[in-house]
Amino acid sequence: MQISVKKCDAAVGAQIVFDLSRPLDAATFAALEAAFHDNIVVFFRDQQLSEEQHIAFSRRFGELEIHIVKKYLLPGYPEILLVSNVKNEAGEHIGLADAGFTWHSDVSYREFPSRCSLLYAKEVPHAPDGDPLGDTVFANCIAAYDALPETMKRRVAGLKAIHRYSSRRRVDNSPRPRLTAAQLAETPDVAHPVVRTHPVTRRKAIYVTAGECVGIVVPNGGAMPEDEALGLIAELDAHCVKPQFCYRHRWQVGDLVMWDNASAMHLAICDYALPQRRLMHRTTVIGDRPT
Ligand SMILES: [Fe+2]
Repeated sequence: MQISVKKCDAAVGAQIVFDLSRPLDAATFAALEAAFHDNIVVFFRDQQLSEEQHIAFSRRFGELEIHIVKKYLLPGYPEILLVSNVKNEAGEHIGLADAGFTWHSDVSYREFPSRCSLLYAKEVPHAPDGDPLGDTVFANCIAAYDALPETMKRRVAGLKAIHRYSSRRRVDNSPRPRLTAAQLAETPDVAHPVVRTHPVTRRKAIYVTAGECVGIVVPNGGAMPEDEALGLIAELDAHCVKPQFCYRHRWQVGDLVMWDNASAMHLAICDYALPQRRLMHRTTVIGDRPT
């Protein structure tokens, strides 16, 4: 089956025209997967997917992560994480309401971080003039690495950054519950290469975020002085998110957007509030240990 791929006018991203509710043979899946690796962020418009179809398509890319915050898993479908500002009758959010408000790569705090995430738009907030709100911005960390000066490429070679889930910066008055001792124990610090090589494309990408990385380990195993480490992390983070490396997705209901967490960072724009409702279903595919 033919697929149509339309590249975005940006450093990353493409629209794929395909109905994901249809059966997907091996050749078509291979074409989709190749387009995904080529474009890092791909999106499918006007999808009408059941939870089972969303999960089944996601599983073609690998085993699915069950998010650590169990309260926000879709009842009956623990593979689906609700990302939403909608509240239930008790006045509590039904999903993560502050997901992605700082630049990050999903689940980087795991020993085996996410290969890709698939976010399906069920409800999208709009401004009074009809424009969609709650965009997501993606940064191409391969292009950002390629654009580094040679001196910086040499400086970061062999370094590892320490990723810490509990360091994630929160917006004021975050509704997210504090991590329990058990959850903290489940997410110990993990060190990943500052520059990782993609397991399939072999392209190198910067893999640090100022929101989640708290230190740097040098090649002999020692720690870089904290000031120097945080300065380097902030410099790399700021470099990656320069506009020339970014694509900004404007959501429509029925969009399924998937992105390569080994090659891109992303940021959720919070420019809406109830009664403007946002409801997304996310699946998260487990990936390889970064190398
Ligand atoms: Fe995210």
